[in-house]
Amino acid sequence: MRLILIGPPGAGKGTQAKALVDRFGIPQISTGDMLREHKAKGTALGVKAAEFMNRGALVPDEVVIGMVEERLQSDAAKAGFLFDGFPRTVAQAQALDATLARLGLKLDAVVLIEVSDELLVERISGRRTDKATGQIYHIKYNPPPPGADLVQRADDKEEVVKERLVAYHAQTAPLVPYYAARGILRRVDGVGELAEVTARLLAAVSPGTVGSVAGPPHGVPPAK
Ligand code: AP5
Repeated sequence: MRLILIGPPGAGKGTQAKALVDRFGIPQISTGDMLREHKAKGTALGVKAAEFMNRGALVPDEVVIGMVEERLQSDAAKAGFLFDGFPRTVAQAQALDATLARLGLKLDAVVLIEVSDELLVERISGRRTDKATGQIYHIKYNPPPPGADLVQRADDKEEVVKERLVAYHAQTAPLVPYYAARGILRRVDGVGELAEVTARLLAAVSPGTVGSVAGPPHGVPPAK
């Protein structure tokens, strides 16, 4: 299974990626996590990426593409993968197409998780991540267990989140028509209980699925 998850910041890509990789036994390739690891280690790539990430801008295409190409050479990735947060520009999508063609690999589906901008800000401001396991929680919608050692992401401040949303609409949203034209785009409503959204995603990537998998209308908060 070779999948891509796209969607705005806070749509639930990281959360749902964990469920999909468990289900399909494929590696998750999150460019956000890879870049944060570089930042934390203080590598040259991490120092360069931080200049952009800290203000909510996208890291330049050539930096991200080089990092992903290296990752795709691993045998684990050749057997299948789930990209979370990559590609994020048409240039990245074209570079990925070229790399996959060179490796003789084909994408199965690109899943767009749709959530309205108003809900995204609430989701991101309540997000906490377990330092040790990387598990993603939300203080209201998916509370962490007592005693968990939690961290809040540096780019989750409200003013930075607004910039990330601007970058999404300007630079990443054009991927929707790009993949729709190739017949592999699946739209999934990202609003609802975590398990409900997981079920919609699994239905969307099942062989033979065509078109969108609907959920409740945007703006309806989860029942929790
Ligand atoms: P990245 O780490 O990819 O962040 P993002 O795309 O902005 O997405 P997030 O991780 O914020 O959200 P998510 O969709 O994963 O949501 P989550 O599951 O956590 O990128 C960070 C930065 O790195 C970018 O700004 C850029 O600078 C750089 N970068 C990365 N990739 C790049 C690339 N390819 N090119 C250039 N630059 C790149 O969920 C959010 C919260 O909501 C959580 O608290 C969760 O518990 C909660 N939640 C999830 N689902 C639900 C639900 N159904 N109901 C209620 N709450 C929910």
